[in-house]
Amino acid sequence: MTERKKLVAGNWKMNGSRASADEIRAMIQGAEALRSQVEMAICPPAVLAGLAGDLVSGSALGLGGQDCHAEPAGAFTGDISAEMWADVGARYVLVGHSERRTAYGETSETVRAKAGAVLRAGLQPIICLGERLSEREAGETLSVIAEQLERSTPVPDETGGIVIAYEPVWAIGTGLTPTLAQVAEAHGRLRQALRARLGARGEGVRILYGGSVKPDNAAGLMSTPDVDGALVGGASLKAADFLAIARACAGR
Ligand code: PGA
Repeated sequence: MTERKKLVAGNWKMNGSRASADEIRAMIQGAEALRSQVEMAICPPAVLAGLAGDLVSGSALGLGGQDCHAEPAGAFTGDISAEMWADVGARYVLVGHSERRTAYGETSETVRAKAGAVLRAGLQPIICLGERLSEREAGETLSVIAEQLERSTPVPDETGGIVIAYEPVWAIGTGLTPTLAQVAEAHGRLRQALRARLGARGEGVRILYGGSVKPDNAAGLMSTPDVDGALVGGASLKAADFLAIARACAGR
């Protein structure tokens, strides 16, 4: 069986300030203690990237962007390219988060172009996907997420590494989570789709679970088959909660 080192990534969304430096320092300390078992990263807002990049430089805590433009540079007011994320020391960029798909009308084709840009910059795209509540209730979850994966995922070259984050839209920020059986079913379907798309390399792709991951539900979620880590929103803002989730992920 292919070994996949677990990844716990924190999506700060539009939260945090320069005063968050203390939380980042505490996260770095915790990440050092877990580095052999689990990879950790934070995705702060872009204005904190320079500060966070300097703090995490050379440490076990990685840096990620929350989004990027597909082009490397140019007249795109307000946007940030994957190359710029690489320049501040990022290892990852989230693409296709449901908040971007919903609020900014991003299609899977846009997401695929952005993911390709992240690979071009030498970073790992964390490609987010997941079903809406109406789709789950209609029994369409597995077909919806398989189609999203197919349409949002570039075929990476040999050196490229992608990460998938399965985030049911109805579980994000709501305190609701699917049952462990539902998580296992969704991740199993995504693994199958990855194998179909990438062949043997699909086995090495990490599939994170995201949506209301908290210290008290992390152990169950993280020991579910084919769950290779977590994408954490609200609970990633405080070092104590974020580290508790990472420890659960490491099986401690
Ligand atoms: P949440 O967010 O953990 O606050 O539910 C997860 C996400 O949106 O990535």
